[in-house]
Amino acid sequence: MLQASDLIAEYQTTGTLRALPTGHFIDGIFTQPSHNRTMESLDPGRGEAFARFTAGTERDVDQAVLSSRQAFDTRWRDVAPVERARILQKASALILENLELLAVVETLDSGKPLQEALGDARGAARTFEYYAGACDKLQGDSFPLGPDYIGYTIHEPVGVTAHIIPWNFPISTAARGFAPALAAGCTVVAKPAEQTPFTALLLAKLLHEAGLPDGVCNVVTGTGLDVGAPLTRHAGVDHITFTGSVQTGRSVMKSAAEDITRVVLELGGKSPVVVLGDCHKEQALSGVLGAIFENAGQICSAGSRLVIERSIHEEFVAELVSRTKGLKIGHGLAKPDLGPVNSADHLGKIAGFVDRAKARGADVVTGGAVTKDPKSGKGWFFQPTIVDRVASNDELAQEEIFGPVLTVQVAEDADDALRLANDCQYGLVAGIYTSNFAKAHQLARKIDAGQIYINEYFAGGIEVPFGGNKKSGFGREKGLEGLLSYCKTKSIAAKIV
Ligand code: NAI
Ligand code: MG
Repeated sequence: MLQASDLIAEYQTTGTLRALPTGHFIDGIFTQPSHNRTMESLDPGRGEAFARFTAGTERDVDQAVLSSRQAFDTRWRDVAPVERARILQKASALILENLELLAVVETLDSGKPLQEALGDARGAARTFEYYAGACDKLQGDSFPLGPDYIGYTIHEPVGVTAHIIPWNFPISTAARGFAPALAAGCTVVAKPAEQTPFTALLLAKLLHEAGLPDGVCNVVTGTGLDVGAPLTRHAGVDHITFTGSVQTGRSVMKSAAEDITRVVLELGGKSPVVVLGDCHKEQALSGVLGAIFENAGQICSAGSRLVIERSIHEEFVAELVSRTKGLKIGHGLAKPDLGPVNSADHLGKIAGFVDRAKARGADVVTGGAVTKDPKSGKGWFFQPTIVDRVASNDELAQEEIFGPVLTVQVAEDADDALRLANDCQYGLVAGIYTSNFAKAHQLARKIDAGQIYINEYFAGGIEVPFGGNKKSGFGREKGLEGLLSYCKTKSIAAKIV
C-alpha cells in the first residue's frame, strides 16, 4: 500500500505522481484514445498543473457505451446476485488498501484537505460494502390475485447507466453512483469532471481488479461539452445520474427527453441551518461551522444559510466569528482547517458574490476577501466569511455561492425561522438545532427539503436516501431507494388454471 507521506514527498520533489493513470478506462484497460489531445489537471492549493489527462471525444464515448452495452448483455446482467456482491465487497476492501493513494490524488485534484479526502475514500469503501450487502436482497413483491393466478414483481436492471460527476466530491459521487448501479446489474459509463479526473479512473481499475468483468465500468475523461453532452444524448444510454449545476442539469434533462432516458438530477442547494434559542450551544456552533467550511463550502448540501432566533443571535454570531478567525488556511496536503477552492474561475465567482454584497452595504463580520496559502503565497483561497443580517430576498440568501461564505438571517421565532428556511428556490437539505423534541419534528415535517439533520449536520451515511426538492433536483441516491433508481420494476401476472 502506498503511504501518504511517501506520495507527498514524491509530489514535493517531482511536482507530480507516478501512480496517476493515463488514458480512458474502457473494456478493462487504460486505452489509448482516438487522438492525442490532453488537458492539464491543476492543483488548486498551488494554482499549478501537476498532470495531464486525456481530453475525450464523442468517438471515445461511442466506444465506451458500446463496450458497456455488450458487457451488460453478455457479462453482467445475469451474473448471480451473490457473485456481484462478492465483487463489490472485494472492491470495498481494495479501496481501503489504496486509501492513501486515492486520498492524496483527490486532494491534489480537488484541493480539499487530506483528512477530508481520506474520509471521502473511506466513505467510498463503505458505499461498496453497503451495496454489496444489498445485491442479493433486491426482492420483489407478490400479489393476492386468488387461487387461479400468480402475480409478482421483479426488479430488473435498467441497463447502461451514465454518470456525470462533479469536482467537489469526485470519488464519493462516483462511488454512490457506481455501487448501486452495479449491485442492480447495470453497467456504467462515467465522466468525471475535467477539474478532477483521476480518482474515478483509479476506482474503475480497482473494480476491475476486484473481479468486475471487462466493460462493466468504463470511464471517459474530458470536458462537459466534448464528453458529457455526447454521453447524455447517446441513444445507447438507458439512465443518467447527473450531479452538478442547475444550468447543466437542465440541459442534461433536455437531452434525456429526446430518447425518454431516465434521469436522476442532484443539483444545487442553499440549505438553511435553523438554530433556535433553546439549542445546545456547543453542538450548534460546531455544527454550523462544519456545515459551511467543510470542503471550503463547495458542497451541494452545505449549510450556507444560518437562520437564527433573535434571542441568541448576537452572542452566537460573535462566537462563530471568533472561531472562524481561528481557522487555519493552507494547502490540502498540509491538512488545514480550510483548503483552497477548486479553480481560479470558481474563486472569481465567489469573490463576485461577496464584492457585490459589499457594494450593497452588506455586514461582512469576518473574512470577505480572496487570499493565498500563507506558506507558499500561492493557490486559490477565499477567506472563511460570515455576512450578518442578510435579507431573505438578497442574492446572498438566494443563490448558491458554493464557497466558504455563510449568510446569517435573523428569525423572530420558530414560525419565522420556518418561513425563512422555505423562502428559497432550492430544497436539498436543512439542519435544525433545538433541544425541544416536538419543535424539531414539527419543523422537520414542514421544511421543504429532501433531508433534514437534527442536532448534527451531515448526520447519517450511505443508509440514508439523499436528493433534492424544488430546483435541487429529483430522484434519490443512497440507501435502498438509491438502488431502486437503477431498477425497472416488472409486474408479472399469470393464470394458472
Ligand atoms: P457543471 O454542472 O457544469 O459540471 C458538473 C459536471 O457536468 C462536470 O462533469 C461537467 O464536465 C459536466 N458537464 C458540463 N456541461 C455538460 C453538458 N452540457 N452535458 C453533460 N455534462 C456536462 O458545474 P460547474 O461548472 O463545474 O460548476 C458550476 C456551479 O455548479 C458551481 O459553482 C456550483 O454552484 C454548482 N455545482 C453543484 C454541484 C453539486 O454537488 N450539486 C457540484 C458542482 C457544481
Ligand atoms: Mg484539478
